Amino acid sequence: MIYLAPIQGITDRIYRNLFPLYFKGVDMAIAPFISSSKKMKPVNNLLREFYPDKNTGIPTIPQIMSSDPDDFTKLANALYDIGCGTVNWNIGCPFPMVVKKGRGAGMLCHPARIESFLEKTMPALKPRLSIKLRIGLTYPDEVLQLIPIFNQFPLTELIIHPRTGVQMYAGGVDLDIFEQCLNLAKHRIVYNGDINSFEKLEMLSKRFGSIERWMIGRGLLGNPFLAEKIKFNTEKPYDEKIKIIRTFHDHLFDEYSKILYGPSHITNKMKEIWTYMGGFFENGEKIRKKINKTHHRDNYVDVVKKVFDELI
Ligand SMILES: Cc1cc2nc3c(=O)[nH]c(=O)nc-3n(C[C@H](O)[C@H](O)[C@H](O)COP(=O)(O)O)c2cc1C
Repeated sequence: MIYLAPIQGITDRIYRNLFPLYFKGVDMAIAPFISSSKKMKPVNNLLREFYPDKNTGIPTIPQIMSSDPDDFTKLANALYDIGCGTVNWNIGCPFPMVVKKGRGAGMLCHPARIESFLEKTMPALKPRLSIKLRIGLTYPDEVLQLIPIFNQFPLTELIIHPRTGVQMYAGGVDLDIFEQCLNLAKHRIVYNGDINSFEKLEMLSKRFGSIERWMIGRGLLGNPFLAEKIKFNTEKPYDEKIKIIRTFHDHLFDEYSKILYGPSHITNKMKEIWTYMGGFFENGEKIRKKINKTHHRDNYVDVVKKVFDELI
């Protein structure tokens, strides 16, 4: 099975709804995190993103980032009440603002906090729980203390990105520690990190024969045909792929235009998408630079039209 990874700012409801109209092979997604702290948006606004009738694309599990069991439970149960059977807990987000507050990856070096969080949360939780984590905040072996704790609770799965928080996205993934996690864990494990080609996945699946579920983020945003290649080993000609990407792009643009008012809101949104999607094209860097210079909607539309016309 292939999961689309949560990428804040990109893999939102609109993206997840449109993606499977154009690309095959992705089975499910974890949504970018929502926060359950008291200062955040009212619960109803957070829930809006997850109403089943508005989530018609990739089947999606919502993700919550919180270090407070009561806040977490309240939001998770509200999600259950609108139809979400499983929620995911984010203890991997490495951003300094998050870590400083002891949330996301900031929890990974506090096994007692994690244990206490799960002890308080699990009995009160209506949906099933899965966890997405990195292997540590500072040291890659921090996770080895956590797996025995996870083993005590009835979780659906652990999604592991084998980097530390301080690494952010630099350096490599630590496959040796990941292997140790696999040996220790009672729960199903989903692998996540740096899958950006068919060959990479083949290498990983040779080494980790028991893994059946793979989460892909940047690799899929940069090459949305990757899941199809992995699953069915089929590949369309380059020209056809570009046409499909163009139609997908135009559809995203139309849908975002309906909710993003103001000429620069929509261009900023599309530029973020190009940060990843640009990777698909041989001259992606040049294309991104051209697009990044546009600030107004009409100008953006002209430039993108030219870019695609030249490619096809
Ligand atoms: C811009 C950006 C935003 C992200 N937002 C989230 C998020 O909201 N929740 C989460 O669990 N991971 C988030 N991640 C991490 C990804 O889900 C994933 O774990 C990471 O990118 C490694 O997988 P990949 O190499 O396949 O991209 C984010 C990553 C990036 C680059």
